[in-house]
Amino acid sequence: MSFVDRRRHPDRNLALELVRVTEAAALATAPLVGRGDKEAADQAAVDGMRHMLHSVKMDGVVVIGEGEKDEAPMLYNGERIGDGSPPQVDIAVDPLEGTTLAAHGMPSALSVIALSERGAMFDPGPCVYMEKMAGSPEIVDLLDLDRPLGETMRLIARRKGCNVSDVMVVVLDRPRHEEGIRAIRAAGARVRLIAHGDVSAALLAVTERSPVDMLWGIGGTPEGVISAAAIKCLGGQMLCRLWPRNDQEREAALEAGYDLQRVLNCEDLVKGDDVFFSATGVTDGDVLQGVRYPSAGGASTESLVMRSRSMTVRRISARHDRAKLAIFRDADLLSDS
Ligand code: FBP
Repeated sequence: MSFVDRRRHPDRNLALELVRVTEAAALATAPLVGRGDKEAADQAAVDGMRHMLHSVKMDGVVVIGEGEKDEAPMLYNGERIGDGSPPQVDIAVDPLEGTTLAAHGMPSALSVIALSERGAMFDPGPCVYMEKMAGSPEIVDLLDLDRPLGETMRLIARRKGCNVSDVMVVVLDRPRHEEGIRAIRAAGARVRLIAHGDVSAALLAVTERSPVDMLWGIGGTPEGVISAAAIKCLGGQMLCRLWPRNDQEREAALEAGYDLQRVLNCEDLVKGDDVFFSATGVTDGDVLQGVRYPSAGGASTESLVMRSRSMTVRRISARHDRAKLAIFRDADLLSDS
């Protein structure tokens, strides 16, 4: 179908199918919230996600997954997903973003998936971390990884017509951020420290009239690609730069041809105009409500479901019958075996 035709005729919105995938992962991991076992919580989310991914007709390759095949038996990087029928897509998954948050019953754990056209997603190769700076459409042109943070705080305050003391930056609470945090505070701005979960923080930072004006700091590269997919649907921008942890990682990245000076934006991380995203809350947070059990046999979920081409953002609240879901799941597992 030509571009003009695609504009005239609504086509399949894969995000509406992906919401069942993130719901399944969130529902599977929810009984393990607060149980102190992050591996078990992650495994349950992976199982739930993979099981439901079978229902999506596509020819998918996991670009951002649970790691290399030898360490991740499911949803590993390079795994083919779907029945092989069109569309051909790249897949980024984080069945449980914030494993520690979920294991400790803390806020803002999510289940997330993003899809793009084949070849559109950035593969971070050997790099585990990247510097990140994200903000809403109002301050996109002020984002700069090289300008001193204090100066950026003052520019944001001027743009927003507020005092610097009103500006809030969300930062992962890590020793590597001490200097940056000092600079933000020295300028008079405020810092919201989070233990984990910079995808949820990026979503909050790009949302207008949110309690947070900017995300800054060094976080995971997979989470960077997933956040970029979401920002392409929501608006706003994120700038990133690969941040090797040591000389070995630096050399591996250079050998593989990565430019470590290059500042990447959302378009570099996920190219093109056809990006689909779904996130379901596992624990309650600023962005999404977590899984709740309003009755003994019932569960509720809240999801953010988005597509970049239309920039449609849906919030889907769902009610689930746990007994019926279990029957479906067990029947499918038997037919799989
Ligand atoms: P997990 O879900 O894999 O535990 O990752 C959580 C997270 O906090 C991400 O949101 C963030 O990008 C990354 O870990 C930061 O890594 P580190 O904890 O090593 O600083």
